[in-house]
Amino acid sequence: MIDEINSRHAIPDHLRFSAGPNHMPVAMIENDHATAEIHLHGGHVTAFQPRNRKPVLWMSREATFCPPKPIRGGIPVCWPWFGTSAEHPDRPQHGFARNREWRVIRADTGTAGETILDLGLKSDPGTMELWPHAFELSLKVIVAGSLTVQLTFLNTGDSPATVAAALHTYFAVGDIAQVRIAGLDGREYHDQLDSMTVKRQNGDITIAEEVDRIYLDTEDDCVIHDAAWNRSIRVAKTGSRSTVVWNPWIEKSKRMLDFPNDGYPEMVCIETTNAARDQRTVEPGGSHTLSQTVSVDRD
Ligand code: BG6
Repeated sequence: MIDEINSRHAIPDHLRFSAGPNHMPVAMIENDHATAEIHLHGGHVTAFQPRNRKPVLWMSREATFCPPKPIRGGIPVCWPWFGTSAEHPDRPQHGFARNREWRVIRADTGTAGETILDLGLKSDPGTMELWPHAFELSLKVIVAGSLTVQLTFLNTGDSPATVAAALHTYFAVGDIAQVRIAGLDGREYHDQLDSMTVKRQNGDITIAEEVDRIYLDTEDDCVIHDAAWNRSIRVAKTGSRSTVVWNPWIEKSKRMLDFPNDGYPEMVCIETTNAARDQRTVEPGGSHTLSQTVSVDRD
């Protein structure tokens, strides 16, 4: 299977597919600007590292690569619902897109030396059982000095469909105690640890306990200022007016089997989302694109 994908899509000096953990196919990208890894399982970016810089994404040391389970770390694609399905709490948390095998649509290079990989996922009888809408999803990943991920939902059914989504990005940080997150000052958020109560952010976010919040009306860039590693990571986005900020802290880390007990100081999730009142309804034949670009301001 890997040979066949390579024969159609490998690009010398940019991209080749190899067998990752448990023989799972992974796109290995290396160009003049950066390296990256993208698993077909989940359409999941698991690594991004600009040249001569530290890794930008956090991956769990305890991640299990056991489909259909999602991979812990990197950028899980959550779709078509976020969190627990309101109507069907027994269905997979954060939807099914991160649990399924995506296919390669196209690989290409850009004029500035970037590498572009397009993956796709379509409705099938299994997805229709979980969510009764026909769809085509595409995930375009552009690896340059920055990392762009664009998730497009095309409604191929005959009725409007309402979706929630997240590019659930795990960022690597030097020490969570020395992190400030800017860009959400003054915004309202649902506190998921306090029955979704609406609260207001005052100043930058600092994290010294479990945090699980859906910020609302957030179109500005978010910047993670990481004093321990002397770097700033910028998250710019389009098609999104909500942002989730999550760190599991001590007790929740212990409850997650694929998350190291001592992993919480090394990461923070800043998620580009369509969550809460920012869910989107797409008419038949219509589409919606959720996109983020991650760049390192200084290192
Ligand atoms: C976050 C949610 O987006 O994802 C949290 O806000 C959740 O409540 C976290 O714990 C991780 O979810 P999962 O399903 O990957 O363990």
